[in-house]
Amino acid sequence: MEACKRTPALRHAAGFVNALLRRALGAPDKLDAAIRASPEARWNHPEWWIAALQQAHPQHWEQMLEVAQIPPAMTLRVNPRRVSRTAYLELLGKAGLHATITADVRLDQALILAHPVPVEQLPGFAAGWVSVQDAAAQYAAPLLDVQPGMRVLDACAAPGGKTAHLLERVDCEVLALDKDAQRLQRVNGTLRRLGLSARLLAADAARPADWWDGQPFDRILLDAPCSASGIERRHPDIRWLRRAGDIAALAVTQAALLDALWPLLAPAGKLLYVTCSVFPQEGTEQAGRFLARHADAIASPALGQLLPQEPRRPVSTGQDDAFSASPAASTRDAPVSQDGFFYALFTKQP
Ligand SMILES: C[S@@+](CC[C@H](N)C(=O)[O-])C[C@H]1O[C@@H](n2cnc3c(N)ncnc32)[C@H](O)[C@@H]1O
Repeated sequence: MEACKRTPALRHAAGFVNALLRRALGAPDKLDAAIRASPEARWNHPEWWIAALQQAHPQHWEQMLEVAQIPPAMTLRVNPRRVSRTAYLELLGKAGLHATITADVRLDQALILAHPVPVEQLPGFAAGWVSVQDAAAQYAAPLLDVQPGMRVLDACAAPGGKTAHLLERVDCEVLALDKDAQRLQRVNGTLRRLGLSARLLAADAARPADWWDGQPFDRILLDAPCSASGIERRHPDIRWLRRAGDIAALAVTQAALLDALWPLLAPAGKLLYVTCSVFPQEGTEQAGRFLARHADAIASPALGQLLPQEPRRPVSTGQDDAFSASPAASTRDAPVSQDGFFYALFTKQP
């Protein structure tokens, strides 16, 4: 109630909140019983979402719903073109900010802050020394295995987190595409701050005939539009805005993007399919169906389904699926704060 009173936009609701709290305090057992009787209230998720998690992750669904209530850590990605991670850790320390390095060697640019801060407080942020990016998202660039000089297509690039990560690691030629011209502007801003450059194009990745010059790409990153169910704690309204039918519709879009982009890949090239989803229709099932449709696609070791993690509430075991290199990433190290992602890597038979 005090918070309502202090917030101008909520001040009018203070009386209502007061009445609710009085009622709750008057009969706590009754309220508790009512909450326990309603899965929606108990888990603060729609019933269809809870049912979908129960079906897809019978061992982990409760922990996943608990993790969804915990604010994520603020994870940084240090720009090696500007400063080393060790040096930046020291700079953070001097600024009074505590951070840790993750044990996973693939996350070689990541630092996890003990407490989130506004980006302006991060040393050298405006000068491009560092970016904010979840740990699970930082697997994309190393998995794509880009070599110097390669032609790379980032098919769904905005706001540019993964585009920038690719370019921070290796000198390559990136075409960053996004259907949404306004969101593409953010890629421009991100790259400029970090001192990086790519060719940007507002176009529909599912319609290459409109924009492709016919020269194959050595690497394609498809960070596809998805339910965002793996990052729902960053956007707590997602779970209430989505409808059960959205998942099947998104899966159709993702399949169309995969099929449209596959012919653009050079022989022996690699396509990394990524979603920030925990639903198999957008992950393992999608990747499995893609392999069934394309005889020249080979599944290379990637990470498969990564579940959202919090050190405070570790998800007990990770999952090994057809698209992960065993053992699953989520069990390999002590759990770090990370979002839920799906990664499948397809290599084109030469
Ligand atoms: C998950 S976000 C990409 C995040 C980005 N890769 C990053 O790391 O910052 C998906 C993006 O796909 C774009 N998108 C959706 N459908 C598309 C299409 N048919 N062609 C190109 N971009 C598309 C959306 O505008 C959105 O920016």
